Order: sequence, then C-alpha cells, then structure tokens
Amino acid sequence: MNYRNNPAAIDTLVRPTEVHRDIFISEEIFELEMEHLFANTWVYVGHGSQIPNSGDFYTTTVGDQPVVMVRHTDKTIKVLHNRCPHKGVKVAGDACGNTGKFFRCPYHAWTFKTDGKLLSIPLKKGYDPETFNDCEASHGMAAVENVRDYRDFVFCRLSPEGQSFDEFFGESLSTLDNMIERSPEGKLEVAGGVLRYMHDCNWKMLVDNQTDTCHPMVAHESSAGTAVRVWEEAPEGTPKPMAVEQFAPFISSYEFFEGMGIRVWENGHGHTGVHNSIHAAYSEVPGYLEAMNQAYGHERAAEILANTRHNTTYFPNIMVKGPIQTLRIFKPLGANKTLVESWTFRLVGAPDKLLERTLMYNRLINAPTSVVGHDDHEVYERSQHGLHSRGREWVNVARLYDPDEANRKNEVVNGTSEWQMRNQYQAWARYMTATMKEST
Ligand code: FES
Ligand SMILES: [Fe+2]
Repeated sequence: MNYRNNPAAIDTLVRPTEVHRDIFISEEIFELEMEHLFANTWVYVGHGSQIPNSGDFYTTTVGDQPVVMVRHTDKTIKVLHNRCPHKGVKVAGDACGNTGKFFRCPYHAWTFKTDGKLLSIPLKKGYDPETFNDCEASHGMAAVENVRDYRDFVFCRLSPEGQSFDEFFGESLSTLDNMIERSPEGKLEVAGGVLRYMHDCNWKMLVDNQTDTCHPMVAHESSAGTAVRVWEEAPEGTPKPMAVEQFAPFISSYEFFEGMGIRVWENGHGHTGVHNSIHAAYSEVPGYLEAMNQAYGHERAAEILANTRHNTTYFPNIMVKGPIQTLRIFKPLGANKTLVESWTFRLVGAPDKLLERTLMYNRLINAPTSVVGHDDHEVYERSQHGLHSRGREWVNVARLYDPDEANRKNEVVNGTSEWQMRNQYQAWARYMTATMKEST
C-alpha cells in the first residue's frame, strides 16, 4: 500500500481494537512518522540542568532531526537545527559542552550566536551583500520556533503550526509536577549519566509496553521471580536488600495490577499506578520525610509522597517514573531500530540515598546490564520478527474495550485495560495525518 500523501490509507491502519502490523514494520510508515508525527507533537529534548550556564549545549535528535539545545546569553534555552547553513555540517559535534558566546563551524569557520543568528564569515568581502542577503544562509542556523521550558523539562514542536504545549499535554503535566515536588527545593538535576541501549524493534513497541500490566508476571517470572526465590532462602533476620525491594513487585499478581488502575488522558498520554503501584512500598529513607515536611508542611508533603504513579507515557516517545525519578526516551532510528536512553534525576535537597535508589533501579531494570530489561528486549525482537508473518495482519489491543470510551476523558479504569494503548494508536493516526496532504 502507498501511504505517502494518503491520509485515508493511514487511517485504515488503526481500528478501535486492532492496529495493522505495517505501523511497526513498514519503512515508508517510519519515514512518514519522522516527517509528520515527530513534527506535529511536542517532543522531549532535554533537561535544563544539563545546560546550566550560558553557552552550555547538548546535542540530540527530535525524531530523525539533529538538534542542539543551548543556553543563550540571556539564559533562555534555544533549540537549533544542528546544521550549518553553508554546506550542511553538523555545527555542534560533541554530545555536550560549552561553546562560549558562539558556535563555530569546523569546516569554514562561519560563526553563529547561540540563538542561531549568523555572526561572522571569514573573508566576507567575497560575498556581495545584496545577493547574500537573499540567500537562506544569511539567516544562520535555523532555530526551532516552538520551544517550551516546562519547569526545566524542555520540549519542542518542529512544525510551525499545531496544538499549543498546554493543549497537547493538558493534565498529564501533573506527573512531571509530582516528580519535581518530590524535591524539598522543588528542583531536579540530571545525575548519574545516561544509560543507552539499542533494540532491534520498532519504537512503538516500547511505548506500548509502558502500560502493559499483563506482562510482568509472565515475561519477568524468570528474572524477578528468581531474585525473590533466592531472597526467600536468606537466613532469617537478613535485612532486605534494596535490589529485592525493587525486583519483587514485578511479579505481583494480576489482581494487584488490576487494582492499580490506569488513567487515560487526551492526545496519547496516560499512566498506570493510580491507586497503588510497584513503587508504593519502598522503605523510608532517613531524613527525607523530615525535609519534605519542613519544605511543604505535613499535609502537602504527605499528598506529594502518596502519589506513587507507576509509568506515565508522554506521547509520542518518553516515559516518566515520578516516584523513582527516571525518564526514558525511545529514540526512533528505523522501523526496526530503537535507541533507549534512561535518564536519572537527583532530588535537590533530599538525602543522597534517594539518588542511590534511583541509580540502582535504573541499572537493575532499564540498562543494557539489566536483568529484567532483557526479558522485554527478547519479546520485542520476537514481535518484530513475528509481525513479518503473513499468517495474521493485526495486533490486538481489545482488552477491556468500551465502545463509548472515545467520548470519555481523563478517566481511571481497571489497571489491566489496554485503553491507554488504544489512546496512543488513535493519537498516532491523528498526528500522522494532521499535516498530510491528499494526493491529487
Ligand atoms: S560548512 Fe559550515 S562553514 Fe562551511
Ligand atoms: Fe517489562
């Protein structure tokens, strides 16, 4: 099927309770996602604490677009397309650093202010000002117009037209708020580096998995289950290791996950762990509650800490865990190639033990060295292969479907519902086709 300039064909790929395999395996669909979906949505770029000083920069990608996030001289954050307007060289080559007051292209030394404006060209007399001013290059590096720094979380929308940031995220921002408020100073800092690992599967399989509560007790039985069994053989009185505290909830019962609840927001966002979660029963860290009580008062502190949301999916491609302060990005590299980045945050003003817990969780669960992560990795790759089978065409997301759900907003339902997955795929079709022109 030809999908380019064919929004009607894209729409046929998402049914109320099924999605077509092409959305995971077609290279053409992948290209269209890069052109449309990742331009029409607000995509996470990075965190302000990665670039605290003027001139600090961080290079990354939005969809397949190379960008550089930089702290400008006026301290605001700019997101620039990382592309020299002269011959196309990526101007910022390092993952991060400080560029001072300007970027300098390594090829012919054109320089650009940190808002992208062209600053200087060596031997400029070689350019007739009139002709040159008519050239695109005279405008310097292209700055992304729609950038939002939400309490240090930086997002951008590449498409000049579209939904506003507030409209796109709505109430879902409450998960970021809660993660921030878990710091007695209301401030987070990226800490502990980033763990990256490559998956031979489509990026949407990872997004889908974030609210898949019917898999942990099955896929993770061999890893988390073994950890718990080993722990059960420990001599009586042995203090429970932090790792066991983090592993054990993965093999909770179906009833536990049903009772957790899932909240579904508009535009593809949603979260598991409304009433309870796998992060709800961690042991207390000495000094933390006192610091929170002092900062917020008893009532408010209790309210913040009682909010133990499990996974919040921010459509299209990040997942945030407020209670353990991690953020994962599912970076699309190809129809069957995804780079996962796992970022961790320090709660400024909280005891160091909390960061230790965050880092341990990240290594145990979300890293290339993770035990649990390989269970998921294996099933993603097997799905990517399996979907090439011509025996069946559709992927099923019918669990606890309610035909009326399209008319309901911001609701909490049974924790094993696949409503959030349906929500994502419907948002997928909408943002894919929003800027697609019908072929004539
Ligand atoms: S390519 Fe950047 S200065 Fe020539
Ligand atoms: Fe998993």
